[in-house]
Amino acid sequence: MKVYKFDEIDSTNKFLKEKNRENEVEIAIAKKQTMGRGRRGNKWSSQEGAGLFSFTLKKSENILEEEYLKLPLVLGYSLLKTLKGIADLDYKFKWTNDIYIKEKKLSGILVEKIEDFFIIGIGLNINNCDFEEFENVATSLKKETGKNFDIEKIVLKVIEDFYENFKFFEEGNWNKILKFINEYNFLFGKRIKIKISEKNQTEGLAGDILENGMLEVFEGKEIKKYNIGEIHIMKD
Ligand code: BTN
Repeated sequence: MKVYKFDEIDSTNKFLKEKNRENEVEIAIAKKQTMGRGRRGNKWSSQEGAGLFSFTLKKSENILEEEYLKLPLVLGYSLLKTLKGIADLDYKFKWTNDIYIKEKKLSGILVEKIEDFFIIGIGLNINNCDFEEFENVATSLKKETGKNFDIEKIVLKVIEDFYENFKFFEEGNWNKILKFINEYNFLFGKRIKIKISEKNQTEGLAGDILENGMLEVFEGKEIKKYNIGEIHIMKD
C-alpha cells in the first residue's frame, strides 16, 4: 500500500489515474484541489477543510464483471456506515452514491476505471463551511454539528472500512447491503426527473433500489427501472 499526500493538487483521481500503479492499493489525499471533478464532468468545490481523496480497487477475478455495477452502491453503504460511527446525524443515501443530510449534499463519489483498476474518488465535506456557488445545496459535518473533526483520521477510516465492506460484499452479503441502503433511500417517494441524455428525459415517483442495483420509478401506470442517468428532484 502507498499513500500520497498533497497540500494542493489538480485532482486526486486524475493523479492516481495517470501514474503507474505499482501497488495494488494506492491512496491520494489532498488538502485542496484546483480542478476537483465530479460525475459527468461537473466541478467539485474543493476547499480546505474538506476530505478530498482517492484510492484504488483492483478488479478481482472472483467477481463477475456485471457485479461491479453495484460498486457505487457498496461504496455508499460503506460511507454511510463509517459516517454513522463518526457523528449521529440524519444521513440519507441518494442513489447511486451520494450522501445527504436533510436536503443538502454531504458527500459525492466518482468511480473511474483504468485497466484492471477502479479509481474511487470521494469528496466529503468535513470542516469546510464555504461551498461557493453550492451554498444552498451542500453541507458539512462541521455545519451540522458545530464541531471540528480530524480530517486525515476520517479519510483513512473511510478507506479502511471500504476495503472491509467490499470483502463483505464479495462474501455474498449483497442482500444485507441492499436492505440497509433502502432504509436510507433519499429518493423514495419523491417526484424525480431523470435525465438520461440531453434529449431523453422522463419523470415519475421514485421507489426502492432493486436487487440488481437499479432504481424503480413509477411513471403513471408503468414501473420502470434505471441504472444510468442523472436524477433531478423536481420542484413543486
Ligand atoms: C460527484 O458527486 O459528482 C462526485 C464528486 C467526487 C469528488 C472527489 S474529490 C476527490 C476526488 N478527486 C476529484 O477530482 N474528484 C473526486
